[in-house]
Amino acid sequence: MAKNKTVDQKNVGGSESSIAVHWQEEKYLYASPGFIGQANLTDETIFERFSLDNFPDYFTEYADLLTWYKGWDTVLDTSDAPCWKWFKGGLINASYNCIDRHLKDNKNKTAIHYVPEPENEKIEHITYQELYVRVNEFTALLRDSAGLKRGDRVTIHMPMSAELPITMLACARLGVIHSVVFGGFSASACADRIIDSNSRVLITMDSYYRSGTLLNHKKSADEAVEIAKKGGQTVDTVLVWERYPGKYSSETPIVKGRDCIVNEELTKYYGVRVEPEKMLAEDPLFLMYTSGTTGKPKGCQHGTGGYLSYVAGTAKYIQDIHPEDVYWCMADIGWITGHSYIVYGPLSLGASTVIYEGVPTYPDAGRSWRIAQELDVNIFHTAPTAIRALRKIGPDEPAKYNYNFKHMTTVGEPIEPEVWKWYHKVVGKGKAVVVDTWWQTETGGFLCSTVPALQPMKPGSAGPAVPGIHPVIYDEDGNDIPAGAGKAGNICISNPWPGGFQTIWGDRDRFVTNYYTRYCKDPNSKDWRDWPYLTGDAAMQAEDGYYRILGRIDDVINVSGHRLGTKELESAALTVGEVAEAAVVPVAHEIKGKEPDLYVALKPGIAATEELAKKISDAICNKIGKIAKPRKVWLVPDMPKTRSGKIMRRVLAAISNKGDVGNVMTLANPEIVDAIKRQVQK
Ligand code: PRX
Repeated sequence: MAKNKTVDQKNVGGSESSIAVHWQEEKYLYASPGFIGQANLTDETIFERFSLDNFPDYFTEYADLLTWYKGWDTVLDTSDAPCWKWFKGGLINASYNCIDRHLKDNKNKTAIHYVPEPENEKIEHITYQELYVRVNEFTALLRDSAGLKRGDRVTIHMPMSAELPITMLACARLGVIHSVVFGGFSASACADRIIDSNSRVLITMDSYYRSGTLLNHKKSADEAVEIAKKGGQTVDTVLVWERYPGKYSSETPIVKGRDCIVNEELTKYYGVRVEPEKMLAEDPLFLMYTSGTTGKPKGCQHGTGGYLSYVAGTAKYIQDIHPEDVYWCMADIGWITGHSYIVYGPLSLGASTVIYEGVPTYPDAGRSWRIAQELDVNIFHTAPTAIRALRKIGPDEPAKYNYNFKHMTTVGEPIEPEVWKWYHKVVGKGKAVVVDTWWQTETGGFLCSTVPALQPMKPGSAGPAVPGIHPVIYDEDGNDIPAGAGKAGNICISNPWPGGFQTIWGDRDRFVTNYYTRYCKDPNSKDWRDWPYLTGDAAMQAEDGYYRILGRIDDVINVSGHRLGTKELESAALTVGEVAEAAVVPVAHEIKGKEPDLYVALKPGIAATEELAKKISDAICNKIGKIAKPRKVWLVPDMPKTRSGKIMRRVLAAISNKGDVGNVMTLANPEIVDAIKRQVQK
C-alpha cells in the first residue's frame, strides 16, 4: 500500500502505516446455562493445550476425531516450506469418514435433508445407509463408465441438490480431486476452471429451481465444454444428473457419445460397492477456486487428512455439532463454507445436514423459518448479507414460527453490530448463542471466533483466535501492533494449521508470493516461525483479545492520510433505523487523496429524502468524526450483488469515479447498475 505523507498527519494521530479505528466497544453477551450444559467444549484448559508451546502436536486432538487406516509418522512436515504437510505418513479416506464409519450405530439416521424449492415437493430424508448405497453406486459409475482414477481432476457444476454431496463423496472415495464450481457461475467461469484443472470430465445437472423458475442448467455445460476446447482442454465426458430422476428436464439436447444421463447409467451399478482408496493424508481432496482482485482465479488446493481433521474439530467445538443435531447452513456448497460446513464437517461428525435448493426468501419472507420449524433445525448458519435481506423484507417473520436454535453462525464479511443484534434477538429469539466466524477459502476452516460455551459474544467482533490459531497484526513496516493499541493493520497467522490450503493448483510461485512473501523472515528457512501467512484483511485487536475485522486491506480508504476501514463507516450508517444496507467506496479527491462515497439501500416503504441522507451522514460524523464525512450519500433502490450475495463495491466505485464498470452480467441483479449510474452520473 502506498504511503501518503499529508498535512493532516499530526491531527489524526498514529502512524501512517496503521489504520485508525473508532469503534465503540460493544457489551458482552453470555451463552445460557442450558447451552453450556450440553456443549462439546467446556474445558478451559483447551487454550493452554493449544498454546504454541505444544505446537504442532495439539492438532492431533482434531485428527483423533477421525478414523485412520494408518496413523501418521510426522504431525507437521516443514521440509518444503511454506507448503506444509500435515499428518505425514497417515492413510485416510474422507468418504469413509463421512459415511461408512457411521453405519454401525447410525445407519438409519438422516444424513441429508434435501429441501426442494417448490413447497409442494416432498423433502427428501437420506439416511446414512442410503447415502452409503448411492455414493458407492456413483463411485462405480465414475470409475467404470467415466474411467476416472485416483489423482484425476473433475469439474462439478451443480446446483444445491443431494446429488452434489453424493458426487463429491464419490470422488473422495476414489481419490479423484473434485473442483466444484458454484452453480450460479457462468459457462465461461466454469470453462476457466475446467482448463486450469485439466478436467476431462464435467458433472452437471439438467435443471434446478430458483425463485420459482426451473432453470436450464445443462445449457451452461455445453457452452463451457465449447469454451474449454478453445482454451485447449477437451472434455470427453459430461455426466448429467436429472433434477427429476427418469425425466430429463432441459431443452438442451443430450450429445451422443459425450453426455451420459447418470440416473439411467446408474442402473448398471445396482448393489455395487467400492472400497474407499487409502489416501495419503497430504493427497489433495479438492480444489476451490477463488478470485482475487486481479489475475485468473486461484485453485486453492486442500489436502485430505489435515483438512478433514480441521473441519471436524472446528465443526465440533466452534459450531457445537453433535450427532443428534439438525444443522442448516444456508451457504451454497459451491463455496468453501459449503464444502467445510455443509458437507465435510457435519457429515464427518455424523450429524444431519440440510441442503436447500432455492432462495431463502422464496416464495415469501417466512420460508427459511418454515424450513427450520419443519426439520426442527437447532443449529443455523448464514451470512450477514442474508441476515440483512431477511431483516429487510421480513423483520417480524421469525417470531411467527416455532423453531428453536441453540446455536447460530455468521460468516463471510464483517457483521455490523446492529445487524448482529437483530440476528441474536429476532432470529435466535434471544436464546441461541452466536459465533461470528472469520476465515477464508484458503484457510479451509475458522480462524477467529468465540468458543461458544467458554467465551462471551461481542457484537461486531469475530472474537479471539480459535484454539490453535495464533494471529499477529503487522503494520505496513512489519512491526507488531499490540492488542488494545486501538489501531488496525494486516492480520497474519503466525503458525501453520491443518486446514490451510497446500498450494495454488499448478502455481506454487504465486502461492508463495501472494500469501507468504510479504512478512517472510527468511525465504530459505524450513522453520514455520519464519513464514507468517498473510490473510489480506485489515483487523484490530481490542484489549480483551477480540479481533474486529475491517475488510480487505485493499478496501481501506485513505482520507488525508487517515486510513479508514470501510466497514466502520457502513456500521455507523446501519445505526440509522431506516437503513437496510450500506456500502462505502473511495472516490478520488485532489487534496484528500480519497473521499468516501456512501451507497445506502433503505428498508421497504421508506422514502428517500434529503433529510434522511443528511441524518445518515451525520450519524457517521458523530460515530467516527468529520474526517469520515461521506462526499455524498446515495440512496439507491438496491445494491449490485454477486450471486453469493456480496455487495460489488468495485462496481459502485467505478460509478462514483466515472470509470468502467466492466462486465456485470454475472451479477445477481445486473439491471441495477444502469439505474444507479443514471442516478449518480446525471
Ligand atoms: O475479508 C474476509 C471476509 O471474507 C474473506 C474471505 O472470503 P472467501 O474466501 O469468499 O470465504 C468466505 C467464507 C469463509 C475474508 O478475507 N470474511 C469472511 N468471514 C468474515 C469476514 N470478514 C469479517 N468477519 C467474518 N466473519
